[in-house]
Amino acid sequence: MPAPPAYAIGQFRDPAAEVARLREQGAVLAAAEDAAFRALGFPDQGVGLDLGCGPGFVTRRFLESRPGLRLVGADIDRRALALARAVAPMVAGTGEALPFADRAFDFAYARFVLRYLAAPGRALGELRRVVKPGGVVLALDSDDAALVIHPEPAGFAATLRAREETLRRRGADVGFARKLPALLGGAELEGIAGTTLTVSSLAIGAAPFAALVLAPVAEAIDADLLSKDEVLAAARAIRAWPALPGAFGMTSVVLVSGRRKMA
Ligand SMILES: C[S@@+](CC[C@H](N)C(=O)[O-])C[C@H]1O[C@@H](n2cnc3c(N)ncnc32)[C@H](O)[C@@H]1O
Repeated sequence: MPAPPAYAIGQFRDPAAEVARLREQGAVLAAAEDAAFRALGFPDQGVGLDLGCGPGFVTRRFLESRPGLRLVGADIDRRALALARAVAPMVAGTGEALPFADRAFDFAYARFVLRYLAAPGRALGELRRVVKPGGVVLALDSDDAALVIHPEPAGFAATLRAREETLRRRGADVGFARKLPALLGGAELEGIAGTTLTVSSLAIGAAPFAALVLAPVAEAIDADLLSKDEVLAAARAIRAWPALPGAFGMTSVVLVSGRRKMA
């Protein structure tokens, strides 16, 4: 039997709430993120691939701001694809073996996807294969080591450790984003460039920070690592965290781009 994916909306206690979290997460950084994508070569025109498109909120965001653009999404999650099909053409498929012809796209991107893949280098090779020579490949992802939180919600450190171990068991890399520049280079992309974006409770508020960044820590944890009651207690502590005096949280995401060689 194949191993379960490291991330699937259906693994969350309330899948509808996770879909809502993805919607908010896509909105909260929109202006800064779009500017960063643009600066790193995300085009206004042509046909692009959104790998791991999820429910399509970010696909929609890019399409609405760029009338000359067409996007196609790919994801392994049927629940996500059913939602995303209202936005753009969507195809079921895994990043490690994309169901598209060589050079089918002008560009490609993956947002908060590659960290969950057991073979992210292979997926980047696939993204390179399906873009035309000269086309840009962009990847945005997070790295758990970038998370700073004060004061810690009760049980947070143990919950984060258990969540990270659960993800590792499914092939994910929780220290992933720091490796993106090397991975893009290893996928024979050239002109590697990148930037980081910071998300903090000062910028978005402590309650949104708890809901968007901290809440997923107390989800989908293997039962031998932490009991259901302990996970629920940690989730309650995270919900209560914004009311703690001086509650401060900060994390960063990494965005890296590279181009398929012309030859
Ligand atoms: C955190 S969500 C991000 C969704 C969307 N890119 C966004 O930024 O809102 C991760 C997505 O990656 C998808 N995913 C996980 N493993 C995948 C794989 N091997 N191939 C393609 N998609 C995958 C999941 O189904 C999910 O929709």
